[in-house]
Amino acid sequence: MGKYVIHGGHELHGEVSVSGFKNAALAVITSAILVEGTCVIGNIPKISDVTVHLEILKRMGASVRLIDDTTVEINCSKLRGPRAIFDDLTRKTRASTYLMGAVLGRFGSAHVSLSGGCDLGSRPIDQHIKGFEALGCNVEIKNGAIHITAQDGLHPARIYFDQRTVGGTINVMLAAVRIPGQTVIENANKEPHIVDVANFLNAMGANITGAGTDVIKVRGVRRLHGGIYSIIPDQIEAGTFMAAVAATGGEIVIHNIIPKHLECISTKFEEMGVEIVDLDDSILVRRTGPLRRTNVKTMPYPGFPTDMNSQTAVLMCLAQGTSIMTESIFQDRFRYVDELRRMGAHAQVDGQIAVFEGVENLTGAPVRACDLRAGAALIIAGLAAQGVTEISCIEYIERGYDNLVAKFNGLGAGITLVEDEAEAEILANA
Ligand code: EPZ
Repeated sequence: MGKYVIHGGHELHGEVSVSGFKNAALAVITSAILVEGTCVIGNIPKISDVTVHLEILKRMGASVRLIDDTTVEINCSKLRGPRAIFDDLTRKTRASTYLMGAVLGRFGSAHVSLSGGCDLGSRPIDQHIKGFEALGCNVEIKNGAIHITAQDGLHPARIYFDQRTVGGTINVMLAAVRIPGQTVIENANKEPHIVDVANFLNAMGANITGAGTDVIKVRGVRRLHGGIYSIIPDQIEAGTFMAAVAATGGEIVIHNIIPKHLECISTKFEEMGVEIVDLDDSILVRRTGPLRRTNVKTMPYPGFPTDMNSQTAVLMCLAQGTSIMTESIFQDRFRYVDELRRMGAHAQVDGQIAVFEGVENLTGAPVRACDLRAGAALIIAGLAAQGVTEISCIEYIERGYDNLVAKFNGLGAGITLVEDEAEAEILANA
């Protein structure tokens, strides 16, 4: 995979449209396993993680047909049973954990490879397992796969999560959707994509209420029929563009958003001196004056999203004064700070807290993406920095953002994707 070469120091201006939400699309596509009929799913982002999940369904025996760039038709009526041992694919995403709940909900048992995804520290699935066991399952992990069986069949349950978990909430919802009776999930997460999955399943005939609150009730139905559904816009992609124009200065309009999903981000950025104007399903974002310091603590939705930690840290590096970022979700979210220091950031990390002392400007440097959102943050830092930044390990970025370089360049960025060292050298010195 090549690298991005960025000539920084230019403001962003223009309009950009956000794609469908990666984390919603991956969960909804996997949920199609539960449907014995044809699902047509629209607003799918064009990212490699989606390709991986569609390939998993195909290997399981589903028919998958791309109707256009962002719409896919899936029919899982003829799935070949509860095995999905595809290490080469499931290790590529975290969302492949949803195979557990979807296959269990469809077949009453599941034998699936364990997932992979961004290295953000330990990502246990003990709460997922707690949910499956409450539904009557026996769970065993061996040979890199999880084996979920229910010798007496699945039964409804009331599950109270000890720890807020997006994946656990979705997985128990999927497992319970066809269990006769009512399953109640308490201390559930409320992220927009959890609501999106519930809305998709209900559009296919499920009976789920309370998604978006901390109590979700799933009344089992006999089967799910086909239907049509469209994925919500990606609020993290929108937030990434908001952070970019806040870092470089300028004015952009971001289309295809749901303002409610961005409130936690917009409020914080306005505190930092960014002007945001709601335009119904678009927003105008402008930064002309200096950035002001702030403090952020990442929390489950509707708190400030952990997936905006690294992008917001770039603004803290450029703000007047000292800002504090507290990460309450992932152990190793701050690995990107070393890369920002290479660009002149003044930052200290102590466990789950990072302190950023604002500097006049960042300077371009060769840096390395260590996860999806860290990669996005390095693009933002490169756009704002004086000089040239080269970003390697861009596969992280390419797997989770749809056409990000073209979208940024449509706003006046100077990003070039280069495949080899010699070309990168020439561009860096251009
Ligand atoms: C989802 O990850 C997202 N991934 C992440 O987005 C996002 O950062 C995260 O939710 C939080 O919003 C997808 O949707 C594919 P969790 P997930 O289960 O489901 C601990 C991105 O960049 N935990 O809410 O894995 C866990 O260790 C990615 O798009 C347990 O202890 O998140 C973590 O510290 C990165 N036991 C915390 O909870 C469990 O059983 C949050 O995990 C489950 C989780």
